[in-house]
Amino acid sequence: MFKTTTATLLVIATSFSFLLLSPPPKSYYHSLYISDSLSDNASVSHHLYTLTRLPHVAGSQANAEAAAYVLSIFTSCNIQSHINSYDVLLTYPASRSLTLTRSPDPPINFDLRQEIYDGDPYVDVADEVLPTFHAYAKSGTVTGPVVYVNYGRVEDYASLKEVGVNVTGTLVLARYGQIYRGDIVQNAFQAGAIGALVYTDRKDYGGGGGGARWFPDDEWMPPSGVQVGTVYNGYGDPTTPGWASSDGCERLSLEEVEKGGDVPLIPSLPISAEDGETILRSIGGEVAREDWQGSEDAPTYRVGPGPGIVNLSYTGRQVIETIQNVIGVIEGSEEPDRQVKTKMNLETRMQCFLALECALKSHKISIYIHPIQRQHP
Ligand SMILES: *[C@@H]1O[C@H](CO)[C@@H](O)[C@H](O)[C@H]1NC(C)=O
Ligand SMILES: *[C@@H]1O[C@H](CO)[C@@H](O)[C@H](O)[C@H]1NC(C)=O
Ligand SMILES: *[C@@H]1O[C@H](CO)[C@@H](O)[C@H](O)[C@H]1NC(C)=O
Repeated sequence: MFKTTTATLLVIATSFSFLLLSPPPKSYYHSLYISDSLSDNASVSHHLYTLTRLPHVAGSQANAEAAAYVLSIFTSCNIQSHINSYDVLLTYPASRSLTLTRSPDPPINFDLRQEIYDGDPYVDVADEVLPTFHAYAKSGTVTGPVVYVNYGRVEDYASLKEVGVNVTGTLVLARYGQIYRGDIVQNAFQAGAIGALVYTDRKDYGGGGGGARWFPDDEWMPPSGVQVGTVYNGYGDPTTPGWASSDGCERLSLEEVEKGGDVPLIPSLPISAEDGETILRSIGGEVAREDWQGSEDAPTYRVGPGPGIVNLSYTGRQVIETIQNVIGVIEGSEEPDRQVKTKMNLETRMQCFLALECALKSHKISIYIHPIQRQHP
């Protein structure tokens, strides 16, 4: 969380003197960089496995353990490191439902589940993965005709207006890509929509040429795969805008957070390529512009509104939970007083170790390596 990051840096400043007590010799970082302990294939593979073995959404015990793991690796590399914890507002999905009606066809109740592939080594923990959702999404139930809005950019709404499509009171279907998902929902709200569905189009996430292949046979997400993430438009903890979420600090109430304008005011849900295409097939009206169309084997996209009617119901749970920031400090060899702060996600992949490598490579000035936690970057 970005605001948390800022807060953490202040804490670093005050604890810096203790960090200086016994810095390793300057040549040490260079030898660490060229050593295999962080970057050879076996270590990378081992770190990756350890960090991804369990689902570890922000605020969970598994995530605290992932933070402890990163700390232990930094420490074993003789990098001055510590963990700062903060209590922040997070959200988790409590219930979701999505129904599409287009008479005379029977209604479709989407199951909103991501399929597990044959031979998935993580199958034993699949049930621990949270249902797909947008972090900080608005709770509510909305029903209305669907409008296809391309990437949901301001110019996409302008272009709909030009062809006389009125978005007021509709649910928009937007594809991921081009802009931040929080802006997709915000733009939909500003255009008068009552809800937003954001799907992954195979044109953008499938090679674009038709005949897409996907994991485990290729790099792309399977048809039932869903890109999740936050739709919050501010930085850090929404209840502490501009100050640190430290122990006993002042906080905004949830009502005040909503009035602040950075959390969405209409419900939204991320959906899969497969479900997005099913909904697209229910949309009539004008044929969408050429650059709004999908990949070669996709159906013809139209803009609507309707006749497909979508009923979206989402309830999120908002809770204050503890997250951890792992801070590592590499003291520079030439200008140790100059500080560079770099941050990366703790909860995903190998970014913290790769950033560590980059930091080691250019350790002429002091570098704070700072794996942070955000809710679904
Ligand atoms: C490490 O793995 C990559 C990707 O599989 C491979 O290209 C590279 O040759 C491997 N390096 C070593 C030293 O085995
Ligand atoms: C769009 O639809 C809403 C609700 O049906 C209506 O109030 C509004 O006047 C319409 N806007 C235009 C430009 O037609
Ligand atoms: C929409 O779905 C919700 C949850 O399944 C349900 O309670 C509600 O009655 C539905 N609304 C309409 C208009 O179908």
